[in-house]
Amino acid sequence: MDLARIRADTPAAEGQAFLHSAGSSLMPSPVVEAMIEHLRLEQDLGGYAAADREQARLDGVYDSVAALLNAGRDEIALVENATVGWQMAFYALAWRPGDRILTGRAEYAANYVAYLQTARRYGVVIDVIPDDAFGAIDPDALRRMIDERVKLISITWIPTNGGLTNPAAAIGEIAREAGVPYLLDACQAAGQMPVDVRALGCDMLAGTGRKFLRGPRGTGFLYVRRDLLQRLEPPMIDHFAAPWTSTDGYTLRPDARRFETWENNYAARLGLGVAADYARAVGLEAIEARCRALADRLREGLRSLDRVSVLDLGRDPCAIVSFSIRGYPVAASLADAAAAKIVIGASPPASTRLDSDARGLGYVLRASPHYFNTEGDVDRLIEFCAAARTK
Ligand SMILES: Cc1ncc(COP(=O)(O)O)c(C=O)c1O
Repeated sequence: MDLARIRADTPAAEGQAFLHSAGSSLMPSPVVEAMIEHLRLEQDLGGYAAADREQARLDGVYDSVAALLNAGRDEIALVENATVGWQMAFYALAWRPGDRILTGRAEYAANYVAYLQTARRYGVVIDVIPDDAFGAIDPDALRRMIDERVKLISITWIPTNGGLTNPAAAIGEIAREAGVPYLLDACQAAGQMPVDVRALGCDMLAGTGRKFLRGPRGTGFLYVRRDLLQRLEPPMIDHFAAPWTSTDGYTLRPDARRFETWENNYAARLGLGVAADYARAVGLEAIEARCRALADRLREGLRSLDRVSVLDLGRDPCAIVSFSIRGYPVAASLADAAAAKIVIGASPPASTRLDSDARGLGYVLRASPHYFNTEGDVDRLIEFCAAARTK
Protein backbone atom coordinates (compact mmCIF):
# COMPACT_ATOMS: atom_id res chain seq x y z
CA MET A 1 0.00 0.00 0.00
CA ASP A 2 1.41 3.35 -1.04
CA LEU A 3 0.58 5.25 2.13
CA ALA A 4 2.39 8.42 1.06
CA ARG A 5 0.29 8.65 -2.09
CA ILE A 6 -2.89 7.76 -0.24
CA ARG A 7 -2.21 10.47 2.32
CA ALA A 8 -1.41 12.96 -0.44
CA ASP A 9 -4.87 12.16 -1.80
CA THR A 10 -6.29 12.79 1.67
CA PRO A 11 -4.97 16.22 2.65
CA ALA A 12 -7.18 16.48 5.74
CA ALA A 13 -5.47 13.41 7.20
CA GLU A 14 -2.57 15.71 8.07
CA GLY A 15 -2.91 17.97 11.05
CA GLN A 16 -5.56 15.89 12.75
CA ALA A 17 -6.10 12.31 13.83
CA PHE A 18 -9.25 11.53 11.88
CA LEU A 19 -10.65 8.35 13.41
CA HIS A 20 -14.28 8.57 12.37
CA SER A 21 -14.65 6.53 9.18
CA ALA A 22 -17.52 4.52 10.68
CA GLY A 23 -19.39 7.83 10.80
CA SER A 24 -18.43 9.60 7.60
CA SER A 25 -14.88 9.23 6.31
CA LEU A 26 -12.56 11.59 4.45
CA MET A 27 -13.06 11.40 0.71
CA PRO A 28 -9.91 10.99 -1.40
CA SER A 29 -9.22 13.86 -3.81
CA PRO A 30 -10.19 11.93 -6.98
CA VAL A 31 -13.69 11.44 -5.52
CA VAL A 32 -14.07 15.13 -4.77
CA GLU A 33 -12.63 16.14 -8.14
CA ALA A 34 -15.02 13.91 -10.06
CA MET A 35 -17.93 15.51 -8.29
CA ILE A 36 -16.72 19.08 -8.74
CA GLU A 37 -16.05 18.44 -12.40
CA HIS A 38 -19.60 17.24 -12.89
CA LEU A 39 -21.06 20.17 -10.95
CA ARG A 40 -19.10 22.51 -13.24
CA LEU A 41 -20.56 20.74 -16.24
CA GLU A 42 -24.02 21.17 -14.76
CA GLN A 43 -23.23 24.83 -14.18
CA ASP A 44 -22.16 25.25 -17.79
CA LEU A 45 -24.60 23.01 -19.64
CA GLY A 46 -27.54 22.42 -17.35
CA GLY A 47 -28.14 19.13 -15.59
CA TYR A 48 -29.60 17.18 -18.49
CA ALA A 49 -26.91 17.99 -21.02
CA ALA A 50 -24.23 17.38 -18.40
CA ALA A 51 -25.64 13.90 -17.72
CA ASP A 52 -25.81 13.22 -21.47
CA ARG A 53 -22.19 14.25 -21.87
CA GLU A 54 -21.12 11.99 -18.99
CA GLN A 55 -23.42 9.10 -19.86
CA ALA A 56 -20.64 6.54 -20.24
CA ARG A 57 -19.04 7.42 -16.91
CA LEU A 58 -22.41 7.46 -15.17
CA ASP A 59 -23.17 4.06 -16.60
CA GLY A 60 -19.79 2.85 -15.42
CA VAL A 61 -20.76 3.50 -11.79
CA TYR A 62 -22.87 0.32 -11.91
CA ASP A 63 -19.80 -1.62 -13.06
CA SER A 64 -17.70 -0.07 -10.30
CA VAL A 65 -20.14 -0.98 -7.53
CA ALA A 66 -20.78 -4.42 -9.05
CA ALA A 67 -17.04 -5.11 -9.16
CA LEU A 68 -16.71 -4.04 -5.52
CA LEU A 69 -19.33 -6.63 -4.53
CA ASN A 70 -18.55 -9.35 -7.09
CA ALA A 71 -22.06 -8.88 -8.46
CA GLY A 72 -23.51 -8.34 -11.91
CA ARG A 73 -24.26 -4.75 -12.94
CA ASP A 74 -27.90 -5.71 -13.46
CA GLU A 75 -28.04 -6.69 -9.77
CA ILE A 76 -27.15 -3.19 -8.51
CA ALA A 77 -29.46 -0.30 -7.65
CA LEU A 78 -27.89 3.07 -6.83
CA VAL A 79 -29.82 4.92 -4.15
CA GLU A 80 -29.50 7.77 -1.67
CA ASN A 81 -28.18 5.82 1.30
CA ALA A 82 -27.99 2.32 2.74
CA THR A 83 -31.33 2.69 4.49
CA VAL A 84 -33.29 3.42 1.31
CA GLY A 85 -31.71 0.41 -0.38
CA TRP A 86 -32.41 -1.81 2.60
CA GLN A 87 -36.00 -0.59 2.88
CA MET A 88 -36.64 -1.23 -0.81
CA ALA A 89 -35.59 -4.86 -0.35
CA PHE A 90 -37.25 -5.45 3.00
CA TYR A 91 -40.62 -3.92 2.15
CA ALA A 92 -40.70 -5.73 -1.18
CA LEU A 93 -41.34 -9.01 0.62
CA ALA A 94 -45.00 -10.05 0.80
CA TRP A 95 -45.47 -10.25 4.55
CA ARG A 96 -48.20 -12.41 6.08
CA PRO A 97 -49.33 -12.98 9.68
CA GLY A 98 -47.10 -15.45 11.46
CA ASP A 99 -44.08 -14.95 9.17
CA ARG A 100 -40.85 -14.92 11.15
CA ILE A 101 -37.90 -12.54 10.77
CA LEU A 102 -34.67 -13.86 12.24
CA THR A 103 -32.24 -11.13 13.20
CA GLY A 104 -29.32 -10.43 15.55
CA ARG A 105 -28.93 -8.64 18.85
CA ALA A 106 -26.72 -5.92 17.37
CA GLU A 107 -29.28 -5.02 14.72
CA TYR A 108 -29.22 -1.43 13.50
CA ALA A 109 -32.07 0.84 14.62
CA ALA A 110 -33.38 1.72 11.14
CA ASN A 111 -33.78 -1.97 10.34
CA TYR A 112 -35.29 -2.90 13.67
CA VAL A 113 -38.00 -0.24 13.60
CA ALA A 114 -38.97 -1.53 10.16
CA TYR A 115 -39.36 -5.02 11.70
CA LEU A 116 -41.49 -3.50 14.45
CA GLN A 117 -43.68 -1.67 11.96
CA THR A 118 -44.10 -4.84 9.92
CA ALA A 119 -44.92 -6.81 13.07
CA ARG A 120 -47.64 -4.28 13.89
CA ARG A 121 -49.00 -4.14 10.36
CA TYR A 122 -49.02 -7.80 9.47
CA GLY A 123 -48.52 -9.74 12.68
CA VAL A 124 -45.08 -11.01 11.74
CA VAL A 125 -42.82 -12.27 14.52
CA ILE A 126 -39.31 -10.96 15.20
CA ASP A 127 -36.97 -13.58 16.63
CA VAL A 128 -33.49 -12.68 17.80
CA ILE A 129 -30.81 -15.28 17.13
CA PRO A 130 -28.80 -16.00 20.29
CA ASP A 131 -25.14 -15.00 20.47
CA ASP A 132 -22.14 -17.27 20.86
CA ALA A 133 -19.84 -16.94 23.86
CA PHE A 134 -18.05 -13.97 22.25
CA GLY A 135 -21.20 -11.98 21.50
CA ALA A 136 -21.48 -12.74 17.77
CA ILE A 137 -24.52 -14.37 16.15
CA ASP A 138 -24.32 -18.11 16.73
CA PRO A 139 -24.84 -19.96 13.42
CA ASP A 140 -25.72 -23.20 15.23
CA ALA A 141 -28.45 -21.42 17.13
CA LEU A 142 -29.70 -19.97 13.85
CA ARG A 143 -29.83 -23.40 12.27
CA ARG A 144 -32.01 -24.66 15.11
CA MET A 145 -34.45 -21.77 14.65
CA ILE A 146 -35.24 -22.45 11.00
CA ASP A 147 -38.76 -23.64 10.24
CA GLU A 148 -41.24 -23.13 7.42
CA ARG A 149 -42.46 -19.83 8.93
CA VAL A 150 -39.07 -18.11 8.57
CA LYS A 151 -39.60 -15.59 5.79
CA LEU A 152 -36.33 -13.70 6.12
CA ILE A 153 -32.93 -13.83 7.76
CA SER A 154 -31.86 -10.23 8.12
CA ILE A 155 -28.74 -9.24 9.99
CA THR A 156 -26.23 -6.46 10.40
CA TRP A 157 -22.80 -7.76 9.50
CA ILE A 158 -20.88 -5.14 11.48
CA PRO A 159 -22.96 -3.15 13.93
CA THR A 160 -22.72 0.58 14.24
CA ASN A 161 -21.68 0.50 17.91
CA GLY A 162 -18.53 -1.61 17.96
CA GLY A 163 -16.04 -3.94 16.37
CA LEU A 164 -18.21 -7.06 16.30
CA THR A 165 -18.08 -8.86 12.96
CA ASN A 166 -20.97 -11.26 12.64
CA PRO A 167 -20.34 -14.52 10.73
CA ALA A 168 -22.12 -13.29 7.61
CA ALA A 169 -20.91 -16.08 5.29
CA ALA A 170 -21.77 -18.88 7.75
CA ILE A 171 -25.25 -17.37 8.05
CA GLY A 172 -25.48 -17.23 4.25
CA GLU A 173 -24.69 -20.93 4.04
CA ILE A 174 -27.57 -21.73 6.39
CA ALA A 175 -29.92 -19.41 4.50
CA ARG A 176 -28.98 -21.12 1.22
CA GLU A 177 -29.52 -24.60 2.67
CA ALA A 178 -32.91 -23.56 4.07
CA GLY A 179 -33.95 -21.64 0.95
CA VAL A 180 -34.75 -18.58 3.07
CA PRO A 181 -34.04 -15.09 1.67
CA TYR A 182 -31.08 -13.41 3.37
CA LEU A 183 -30.80 -9.62 3.63
CA LEU A 184 -27.42 -8.33 4.79
CA ASP A 185 -26.70 -4.86 6.12
CA ALA A 186 -23.11 -4.36 4.96
CA CYS A 187 -23.00 -0.66 5.71
CA GLN A 188 -19.92 -0.76 7.94
CA ALA A 189 -18.21 -3.53 5.97
CA ALA A 190 -18.18 -1.95 2.49
CA GLY A 191 -14.79 -0.33 1.96
CA GLN A 192 -13.35 -1.84 5.15
CA MET A 193 -12.97 -5.42 3.90
CA PRO A 194 -13.72 -7.56 0.85
CA VAL A 195 -17.47 -7.88 0.27
CA ASP A 196 -18.27 -10.75 -2.09
CA VAL A 197 -21.99 -11.37 -2.41
CA ARG A 198 -21.42 -14.84 -3.90
CA ALA A 199 -19.13 -15.94 -1.06
CA LEU A 200 -21.49 -14.40 1.49
CA GLY A 201 -24.47 -16.27 0.06
CA CYS A 202 -26.73 -13.27 0.56
CA ASP A 203 -29.75 -12.48 -1.61
CA MET A 204 -29.88 -8.78 -0.85
CA LEU A 205 -27.21 -6.46 0.52
CA ALA A 206 -27.26 -2.76 1.33
CA GLY A 207 -24.31 -0.43 1.73
CA THR A 208 -23.50 3.24 1.97
CA GLY A 209 -21.01 5.54 0.28
CA ARG A 210 -19.82 7.86 3.01
CA LYS A 211 -18.35 5.49 5.59
CA PHE A 212 -15.40 3.15 5.05
CA LEU A 213 -15.92 3.34 1.29
CA ARG A 214 -14.90 7.02 1.46
CA GLY A 215 -17.56 8.16 -0.99
CA PRO A 216 -19.82 11.18 -0.76
CA ARG A 217 -22.75 11.60 1.56
CA GLY A 218 -26.18 10.85 0.14
CA THR A 219 -25.07 7.77 -1.76
CA GLY A 220 -25.86 4.12 -1.22
CA PHE A 221 -26.46 0.91 -3.08
CA LEU A 222 -28.56 -2.21 -3.01
CA TYR A 223 -27.59 -5.59 -4.43
CA VAL A 224 -30.34 -8.08 -5.25
CA ARG A 225 -29.51 -11.55 -6.56
CA ARG A 226 -30.61 -11.93 -10.18
CA ASP A 227 -33.07 -14.77 -9.77
CA LEU A 228 -34.76 -13.14 -6.78
CA LEU A 229 -35.08 -9.80 -8.57
CA GLN A 230 -37.90 -10.91 -10.81
CA ARG A 231 -39.92 -11.99 -7.80
CA LEU A 232 -39.55 -8.75 -5.86
CA GLU A 233 -42.04 -5.98 -6.54
CA PRO A 234 -40.64 -2.73 -5.12
CA PRO A 235 -42.80 -1.24 -2.37
CA MET A 236 -42.91 2.04 -4.31
CA ILE A 237 -42.37 2.64 -7.99
CA ASP A 238 -42.11 5.51 -10.42
CA HIS A 239 -41.98 5.64 -14.20
CA PHE A 240 -38.25 4.86 -14.20
CA ALA A 241 -38.62 1.72 -12.08
CA ALA A 242 -41.66 0.75 -14.08
CA PRO A 243 -42.23 2.54 -17.40
CA TRP A 244 -45.91 3.36 -18.07
CA THR A 245 -46.32 1.10 -21.06
CA SER A 246 -50.09 1.26 -21.64
CA THR A 247 -53.00 3.31 -20.36
CA ASP A 248 -53.64 0.83 -17.57
CA GLY A 249 -50.32 -0.83 -17.29
CA TYR A 250 -46.68 -0.55 -16.40
CA THR A 251 -43.73 -2.85 -16.93
CA LEU A 252 -41.26 -3.26 -14.11
CA ARG A 253 -37.66 -3.02 -15.19
CA PRO A 254 -36.03 -6.44 -15.28
CA ASP A 255 -32.91 -5.33 -13.39
CA ALA A 256 -32.25 -3.99 -9.90
CA ARG A 257 -32.91 -0.48 -11.12
CA ARG A 258 -36.57 -1.24 -10.47
CA PHE A 259 -35.62 -0.06 -6.95
CA GLU A 260 -34.48 3.36 -8.18
CA THR A 261 -36.32 6.54 -9.08
CA TRP A 262 -35.85 8.78 -12.07
CA GLU A 263 -34.11 11.75 -10.51
CA ASN A 264 -30.62 11.49 -9.04
CA ASN A 265 -27.66 13.45 -7.79
CA TYR A 266 -25.30 12.58 -10.64
CA ALA A 267 -22.29 14.33 -9.19
CA ALA A 268 -22.57 12.25 -6.02
CA ARG A 269 -23.15 9.12 -8.06
CA LEU A 270 -19.93 9.71 -9.98
CA GLY A 271 -18.16 10.25 -6.67
CA LEU A 272 -19.46 6.90 -5.44
CA GLY A 273 -18.12 5.16 -8.53
CA VAL A 274 -14.68 6.72 -8.10
CA ALA A 275 -14.69 5.76 -4.41
CA ALA A 276 -15.45 2.14 -5.29
CA ASP A 277 -12.66 2.11 -7.90
CA TYR A 278 -10.27 3.76 -5.45
CA ALA A 279 -10.94 1.14 -2.77
CA ARG A 280 -10.38 -1.66 -5.27
CA ALA A 281 -7.18 -0.06 -6.51
CA VAL A 282 -5.83 0.14 -2.95
CA GLY A 283 -6.98 -3.46 -2.45
CA LEU A 284 -9.70 -4.61 -0.06
CA GLU A 285 -7.55 -7.35 1.52
CA ALA A 286 -4.78 -4.87 2.21
CA ILE A 287 -7.29 -2.35 3.53
CA GLU A 288 -8.77 -4.91 5.91
CA ALA A 289 -5.35 -5.97 7.16
CA ARG A 290 -4.26 -2.40 7.84
CA CYS A 291 -7.59 -1.45 9.44
CA ARG A 292 -7.36 -4.43 11.78
CA ALA A 293 -3.74 -3.74 12.66
CA LEU A 294 -4.51 -0.11 13.56
CA ALA A 295 -7.63 -1.08 15.50
CA ASP A 296 -5.77 -3.81 17.39
CA ARG A 297 -3.08 -1.32 18.34
CA LEU A 298 -5.74 1.08 19.56
CA ARG A 299 -7.55 -1.57 21.59
CA GLU A 300 -4.35 -2.76 23.15
CA GLY A 301 -3.38 0.78 24.13
CA LEU A 302 -6.83 1.56 25.52
CA ARG A 303 -6.97 -1.70 27.47
CA SER A 304 -3.78 -0.73 29.26
CA LEU A 305 -5.52 2.33 30.74
CA ASP A 306 -7.23 1.94 34.11
CA ARG A 307 -10.17 4.20 33.44
CA VAL A 308 -10.95 2.98 29.95
CA SER A 309 -13.23 0.02 29.15
CA VAL A 310 -13.08 -1.39 25.64
CA LEU A 311 -16.57 -2.61 24.75
CA ASP A 312 -16.13 -4.50 21.48
CA LEU A 313 -17.64 -7.94 21.13
CA GLY A 314 -16.57 -10.86 18.98
CA ARG A 315 -13.54 -13.05 18.58
CA ASP A 316 -11.90 -11.00 15.86
CA PRO A 317 -13.09 -7.39 16.06
CA CYS A 318 -12.76 -5.03 13.10
CA ALA A 319 -11.86 -1.34 12.79
CA ILE A 320 -14.65 0.06 14.96
CA VAL A 321 -13.32 0.48 18.47
CA SER A 322 -15.94 1.24 21.11
CA PHE A 323 -15.01 2.28 24.61
CA SER A 324 -15.91 4.41 27.59
CA ILE A 325 -13.80 6.47 29.97
CA ARG A 326 -14.87 6.29 33.60
CA GLY A 327 -15.83 9.69 35.02
CA TYR A 328 -15.54 11.44 31.66
CA PRO A 329 -18.90 12.20 30.01
CA VAL A 330 -19.12 11.40 26.33
CA ALA A 331 -19.99 14.95 25.24
CA ALA A 332 -16.94 16.32 27.08
CA SER A 333 -14.72 13.54 25.68
CA LEU A 334 -15.79 14.36 22.12
CA ALA A 335 -15.39 18.10 22.56
CA ASP A 336 -12.00 17.81 24.24
CA ALA A 337 -10.80 15.32 21.65
CA ALA A 338 -11.95 17.66 18.86
CA ALA A 339 -10.07 20.52 20.50
CA ALA A 340 -6.98 18.29 20.49
CA LYS A 341 -7.61 17.61 16.77
CA ILE A 342 -8.67 14.04 17.33
CA VAL A 343 -11.92 13.21 15.53
CA ILE A 344 -13.93 10.35 16.98
CA GLY A 345 -17.66 9.71 17.31
CA ALA A 346 -20.16 8.30 19.74
CA SER A 347 -22.93 5.79 19.36
CA PRO A 348 -26.18 6.30 21.25
CA PRO A 349 -27.99 3.38 22.90
CA ALA A 350 -30.99 3.80 20.58
CA SER A 351 -28.90 2.95 17.51
CA THR A 352 -28.55 -0.67 18.70
CA ARG A 353 -31.13 -0.87 21.48
CA LEU A 354 -31.23 -4.64 21.96
CA ASP A 355 -27.50 -4.81 22.46
CA SER A 356 -27.28 -1.58 24.47
CA ASP A 357 -30.06 -2.66 26.83
CA ALA A 358 -28.66 -6.16 27.24
CA ARG A 359 -25.21 -4.83 28.13
CA GLY A 360 -26.42 -1.75 30.00
CA LEU A 361 -24.54 0.56 27.64
CA GLY A 362 -25.07 4.28 27.53
CA TYR A 363 -23.50 6.39 24.80
CA VAL A 364 -20.26 4.71 23.80
CA LEU A 365 -17.26 6.42 22.30
CA ARG A 366 -16.39 5.10 18.87
CA ALA A 367 -13.04 5.41 17.11
CA SER A 368 -12.72 3.97 13.64
CA PRO A 369 -9.26 4.03 12.08
CA HIS A 370 -8.94 3.54 8.33
CA TYR A 371 -6.03 2.58 6.12
CA PHE A 372 -5.04 6.21 5.56
CA ASN A 373 -4.42 6.69 9.28
CA THR A 374 -0.99 6.33 10.82
CA GLU A 375 0.09 4.54 13.95
CA GLY A 376 0.75 8.05 15.25
CA ASP A 377 -2.95 8.94 14.89
CA VAL A 378 -3.90 5.95 16.98
CA ASP A 379 -1.26 6.71 19.59
CA ARG A 380 -2.54 10.27 19.91
CA LEU A 381 -5.95 8.97 20.88
CA ILE A 382 -4.43 6.58 23.40
CA GLU A 383 -2.40 9.42 24.91
CA PHE A 384 -5.48 11.63 24.99
CA CYS A 385 -7.42 8.96 26.88
CA ALA A 386 -4.52 8.38 29.26
CA ALA A 387 -4.53 12.07 30.14
CA ALA A 388 -8.34 12.31 30.30
CA ARG A 389 -9.53 14.52 33.09
CA THR A 390 -12.30 13.49 35.41
CA LYS A 391 -15.44 15.57 35.33
C1 LIG B 1 -24.81 -0.81 10.61
C2 LIG B 1 -25.46 0.31 9.88
N1 LIG B 1 -26.47 0.04 9.04
C3 LIG B 1 -27.09 1.01 8.35
C4 LIG B 1 -26.73 2.32 8.49
C5 LIG B 1 -27.49 3.36 7.72
O1 LIG B 1 -26.76 3.87 6.66
P1 LIG B 1 -27.26 5.17 5.90
O2 LIG B 1 -27.19 6.28 6.91
O3 LIG B 1 -26.37 5.34 4.75
O4 LIG B 1 -28.67 4.91 5.50
C6 LIG B 1 -25.70 2.66 9.36
C7 LIG B 1 -25.32 4.07 9.54
O5 LIG B 1 -24.72 4.44 10.52
C8 LIG B 1 -25.04 1.62 10.06
O6 LIG B 1 -24.03 1.90 10.88
